[in-house]
Amino acid sequence: MSTAADILKPLPGVIEPRWWPGEEVLPPTSYTIDGSGYAMKESDLAEDSALSRRMNQVFDDVGLVWLRNTGLTDLQSMRRFAKLVVENEMRYEGGANPRDDLEPNVYEVGAPLTAWLHYHHEMAYVSHSTRMLAFLGNKAIAGKGATYVSDNLQVTDAILATEFGQKLKELGLCYHRNLTDREQFRDRDPIGVYNHWQKSMLTDDPDEAMETARSRGLDVEWGANRLLKTRYYISAFEYFPQLDRNVLYSSVADDGMWFDTWPNVMHLPFSERPLALTFGDGTAMTRAEKQQFVDVYDRFGLPVDWADGDVLIVCNYRFAHGRPGIHLEDHEERELGVLIGEAYERIGDVDGKW
Ligand SMILES: [Fe+2]
Repeated sequence: MSTAADILKPLPGVIEPRWWPGEEVLPPTSYTIDGSGYAMKESDLAEDSALSRRMNQVFDDVGLVWLRNTGLTDLQSMRRFAKLVVENEMRYEGGANPRDDLEPNVYEVGAPLTAWLHYHHEMAYVSHSTRMLAFLGNKAIAGKGATYVSDNLQVTDAILATEFGQKLKELGLCYHRNLTDREQFRDRDPIGVYNHWQKSMLTDDPDEAMETARSRGLDVEWGANRLLKTRYYISAFEYFPQLDRNVLYSSVADDGMWFDTWPNVMHLPFSERPLALTFGDGTAMTRAEKQQFVDVYDRFGLPVDWADGDVLIVCNYRFAHGRPGIHLEDHEERELGVLIGEAYERIGDVDGKW
């Protein structure tokens, strides 16, 4: 039986990311745009405005746009500027993470603030992924609560140069997810709960839930207590058409490790956690391999230290994103809005495009 203190205690020996090497992996001028050089008014929101052209150019070239000094004070205006690059926003659809609306069309991050969030590519664990995403700095604290992004082109080259990278290339991955039944937790604390299948699949009907999961490319079966168990087999890499090459598209964020600092789940052994990531043949990754998986993203990471009104647009192929846990003082507030960009169907890697 878990005690109240237990559920807030990480297991010993967890692998904590270091996030970045402490020195620049990319020149900041290559991805930063200073909003104070623009009016940041309606006229800048035209598709062919100087700001729009600059943002799209930087996004095409680098895959990362950090628009700073915007003077913007509300999520809806930040969203409109983000949309100069982010076309065809994805609505929340079945199979994704638990996320609530902060405001119309702006989602919350969908994870506890105190938990560190390992580097990841958004929605790598379903066939229906996204090309890009944007973060909106609604409430920022200087010097605290930075998001980190990792240069995935350098990461891909580095991992392919290792034995582990070659193993990932050869075996692919299986994403194991166990979604709990909301009915079982009506009068119980949400111990061990990540996401109920009703919320993930947007239905209370078990047959419909299975159908939605299958339409997302998942193998599904029911476990005890109406636990919905999904499995997704796919390459650890994804073909990126713009650069005509495969890039790494996976991380330990889809393993039980995701919950190492997650209240209500971190005290559980890995066998009881809602997510697991194995090689495509079902074999487990060793601790050393998981350490390598964390390290490779840390080597090419860079911090995005938020100020109010900042807008960050991230190519989901060329960058992974994550952040350390955030511990606020009573008077502090930190809130980011999230936009998910255009959806696409994952194809995995393409032969000869390494
Ligand atoms: Fe994310």
